[in-house]
Amino acid sequence: MSKKKILVVGGTGYLGQHLLQAYNAHPNANAHDLAFTHHSSPLPQPLLEAIPSSLSFQVDLKTGNGFEAISNAFGQPDVVVNCAAMSVPRACEVDPATAHAINVPSSLVKWLQSFEHSTTLLIHLSTDQVYEGEKSFYKEEDVTLPVNIYGKTKVAAEKFISEKCPNFAILRSSIIYGPQTISPVPKSLPIQWIDGALAKGEKVEFFHDEFRCPIYVMDLVTIILALTSQWTSEGKQMKVLLNVGGPDKVSRVQMAEAVAQFRGYDPSLIKSVSASSVDRGVKSPSDISMDITRLIQTLRIHPVSFKDGVRLTLTTEAKQ
Ligand SMILES: NC(=O)c1ccc[n+]([C@@H]2O[C@H](COP(=O)([O-])OP(=O)(O)OC[C@H]3O[C@@H](n4cnc5c(N)ncnc54)[C@H](OP(=O)(O)O)[C@@H]3O)[C@@H](O)[C@H]2O)c1
Repeated sequence: MSKKKILVVGGTGYLGQHLLQAYNAHPNANAHDLAFTHHSSPLPQPLLEAIPSSLSFQVDLKTGNGFEAISNAFGQPDVVVNCAAMSVPRACEVDPATAHAINVPSSLVKWLQSFEHSTTLLIHLSTDQVYEGEKSFYKEEDVTLPVNIYGKTKVAAEKFISEKCPNFAILRSSIIYGPQTISPVPKSLPIQWIDGALAKGEKVEFFHDEFRCPIYVMDLVTIILALTSQWTSEGKQMKVLLNVGGPDKVSRVQMAEAVAQFRGYDPSLIKSVSASSVDRGVKSPSDISMDITRLIQTLRIHPVSFKDGVRLTLTTEAKQ
């Protein structure tokens, strides 16, 4: 049987790196060929050393430059996981046109349509920020009403993919947290940021009125591996939309409390403030907690609690 081909678009990002390492370490790793794309140069050396047998390609989603080289050297992938994005909401507000050009993956989909047979599954990362944030525990069938440009580009991407792709899985992810990547990413990571701020022993402000269902990165990786294996083993038509979050709805104050409890920091360092007290240069939805029943029923995967995820994050960090 020929080897399955897996392409991670945005393999140098936070999720992309964790995912590449997991595909590489998978017991069935010999059953597939692995490739990934990056946008910036040079490629981070530790990542290359961790996944020595994979191919890398420079691709710009804005223009589609680079996809042809993948066709020539790697061929048509069986699975594409699109982790590439302009993923910082404030940056999307500053340059909406670029945010749209990157976050709506029209060049990627056009490239996939160039192959004679539609045998590729596209797993695409969306966000909880497609929801307005005015109620709790959103379900997939609830209306999407994003309050910022980032969310709007993600809604546009979902619509585009569901109209154009014969097989897809769209994952509406909450905040992704976990250990640092093998080649550290430039943006600050949520648990590490809280940990570093509280470690100074000074009071730090956290919002008490913004709620999310953060997901531990390795749970998200497990979800993507399960979808990959379902597609490559069964090949049945797939049109899936899933909320992917952890089981706990937490405010930023509760996130900080979980870190403080694990580390033994003084809880009075956590100063509770309203999100409305700070101008972050971008509107942020207040309660986009999600109902993850469909995820659990579809894949039989139970993401870890936030408390366990914090412990796993900080103990893994300590070992690195
Ligand atoms: N992190 C979260 O908490 C979170 C929460 C909800 C949803 N999501 C979604 O999950 C996905 C993964 O997030 P992440 O945090 O892992 O993202 P990330 O760390 O910001 O990584 C972004 C990736 O996109 C690539 N990229 C940027 N501009 C590009 C362009 N013009 N053409 C091609 N590639 C480009 C980057 O390549 P270079 O590194 O080479 O520049 C990098 O590999 C994204 O879709 C994000 O919106 C993330």
